[in-house]
Amino acid sequence: MTEIDFVPSAYTQTIATGKVTCKAPSNIALIKYWGKKKNQIPANPSISFTLDACATTTSLSYNKLEQPINGFSFDLMFEGKSKEDFKPKIETFFQRIIQYVPFLKEYHFSIETSNSFPHSSGIASSASGMAALAFCLVEIEKLLNPDMGNDFMIQKASFLARLGSGSAARSIEGSLVQWGIHNKIENSSDLYAIKYPYKVHSVFTNYHDTILLVDKGQKTVSSSVGHNLMHNHPFAENRFKQANDNLEKIKKIFAEGDLKKFIEIVESEALTLHAMMMTSLPYYILMKPNTLQIINEIWSFRAATGSNVCFTLDAGANVHVLYPESEKEIVYQFIKDQLVVFCENGQYICDRIGFGAKNK
Ligand code: DP6
Repeated sequence: MTEIDFVPSAYTQTIATGKVTCKAPSNIALIKYWGKKKNQIPANPSISFTLDACATTTSLSYNKLEQPINGFSFDLMFEGKSKEDFKPKIETFFQRIIQYVPFLKEYHFSIETSNSFPHSSGIASSASGMAALAFCLVEIEKLLNPDMGNDFMIQKASFLARLGSGSAARSIEGSLVQWGIHNKIENSSDLYAIKYPYKVHSVFTNYHDTILLVDKGQKTVSSSVGHNLMHNHPFAENRFKQANDNLEKIKKIFAEGDLKKFIEIVESEALTLHAMMMTSLPYYILMKPNTLQIINEIWSFRAATGSNVCFTLDAGANVHVLYPESEKEIVYQFIKDQLVVFCENGQYICDRIGFGAKNK
């Protein structure tokens, strides 16, 4: 598939007005996307668990305009309130995708969106938000071109979501999703994510992710800026190679269910991501003292008990605590007893592997 394949043929139906609603989850990368080329093409392939509880629900009402307009006509409500400051991001998204969804110029849209997690939690909502919006758009396109097949719809939703936010490409499907060309993963693509196509051991079924909210403030450096700092980064080429190597290694780990090796890759990926930030120019640190406290507690607990709990980080201070279903009681107890104290206002979110976006 190439970009051209996502340009639709002339629409066969005309529809004056309607509304679609979709819900898309967040995801947590195990092998991280960090660095990108033009047009939201990742510098290296990544893989993630799709989450379940952390999700965005978006409704898109559309009303046909008398005639197509030059810009885009839309209004936006976030959690029941008009949200002017989100509009430029949506406008940029629409500009990037207009050639793939030309009906965007033919309608006025009312976007109503809300997150299942608190807005000020420091949890990035761009993955679930862009995935939900992209899914809505493809649902509308299906009404205009009813011949569109289901597999193509999913691919196109991921393709569009990627143009909104790279990691959003991985929020359309579940439960293990891969994005970015890798020579050992058949049908992998830089343009959209795919469901991980190989054997996954049952130990990964229902994997848990408890998100510890260490710092709920706005990030000091956005992901977009961080990605950009990978250009001319002294360690960039090695990092991109490492992500490719890790993806190859994790294939065997997924097949065999070797959690010790899983932990090694996942934690190394998290720390490497932050090492890239600390060695960019300008350099910066998104971890907070409590992020490190939690990491050390997890290491001590693992050494003392032999548990398979581990952590990963996204581009922020919060810690994702990952553990298998078989250890949920013991790890949850550990979290309550020893980790919650490091969370801002004691807040955390219990999540687990999920199955992707759906219409409602
Ligand atoms: C650290 O997808 O937020 O979470 O494409 O600029 O929107 P943009 O970046 P974004 O980057 C996420 C980076 C990450 C790792 C990952 O999810 O793979």
